[in-house]
Amino acid sequence: MHSTILQELGYNLHEVNPRLHYFKPNTSKTEKTFAEEISYSLTQNSKFIHPKFFYDQTGSRLFEQICHLPEYYLTRTEISILQFLKNELPQFLDKSYRLVELGSGSSTKTKLLLDILHDLQERVEYFPIDISDILKEGSQSLLESYENLHITGIIDTYEGGLKFIKSFDDTPNLIAFLGSSFGNFEYDDSIRFLHDVNSTMKQSDLFLAGIDLVKDKKILEDAYNDSLGVTAQFNLNVLQRINNELDANFDIDKFYHKAEFNEKENRIEMYLRSKEVQSVNIPKANLSIDFVKDELIHTEHSHKYTVSQIENMMDATNFEIKKIWQDPCQNYSMVLASKIF
Ligand code: AVJ
Repeated sequence: MHSTILQELGYNLHEVNPRLHYFKPNTSKTEKTFAEEISYSLTQNSKFIHPKFFYDQTGSRLFEQICHLPEYYLTRTEISILQFLKNELPQFLDKSYRLVELGSGSSTKTKLLLDILHDLQERVEYFPIDISDILKEGSQSLLESYENLHITGIIDTYEGGLKFIKSFDDTPNLIAFLGSSFGNFEYDDSIRFLHDVNSTMKQSDLFLAGIDLVKDKKILEDAYNDSLGVTAQFNLNVLQRINNELDANFDIDKFYHKAEFNEKENRIEMYLRSKEVQSVNIPKANLSIDFVKDELIHTEHSHKYTVSQIENMMDATNFEIKKIWQDPCQNYSMVLASKIF
């Protein structure tokens, strides 16, 4: 029935089983390769590596560990707010909503939202949107947990996936963007992103985002400099990934992890610092790069917001805030918003 839409939008349907299928664009989009991006970003005056490259298999496993660290308050605080939403969110929903998730996320958090829909509906629909086909992995365990769950994955960028969903049907969507991933955007990109989400929303669609709040510098810096050194391993692993995938010869022991809160910009800045003068070869990127002692590779910005900044951003991008929830310590927020027509 959707075959014409599918053709127009350029997606193919893959059926894994009767309750799990996914859509993938059939035109190979002209995305830069890892080698191309690295050979650009490590030859700039200020060297950097984009944080999306953290998440190879080892990096994803290390990030899971970060989420359980005592210092990393973000995950458990977001979960506690989601638990609270079980009694709050239903007043904004009805039987017809499906869950759309940007990034396929952790299944713990997805389940908390699916539980809410499950109490309202006989048939629950979940549409994860993720650029990698990682979304196929978490799906199986979700299907086992809910016998009335139907999953449709969209393997695409957030923007591509949301456009696809907009033309797909008239079902109202609860679009979730969890985990403070929003913090990785620079200011201009965050506004562009909110505009993009807003422009693909229909009348009754809702947007639910988890956003980390500005707080005491010590709490923030401890969350990104944990005492077990897991964040350091996570940061350094991106060099190992370049070794593995691009045949490079980074000596991981010759770099330090460094994370600091920039109070002017309200963001955690993560770097890798070269312990000494050194050269590194990256054959598959046709590259040889030199480091001076203490030279930095910037790897991540994690922006923190105040509630009034969140209100201003939503205001500037055509959203009406339905509600903002915070934990009792006001460490973290969840924003629910609709589109203004
Ligand atoms: C996945 C971007 C939300 O910024 O807190 C955790 C990534 N980096 N520790 C964050 C991260 C270092 C995380 N986000």
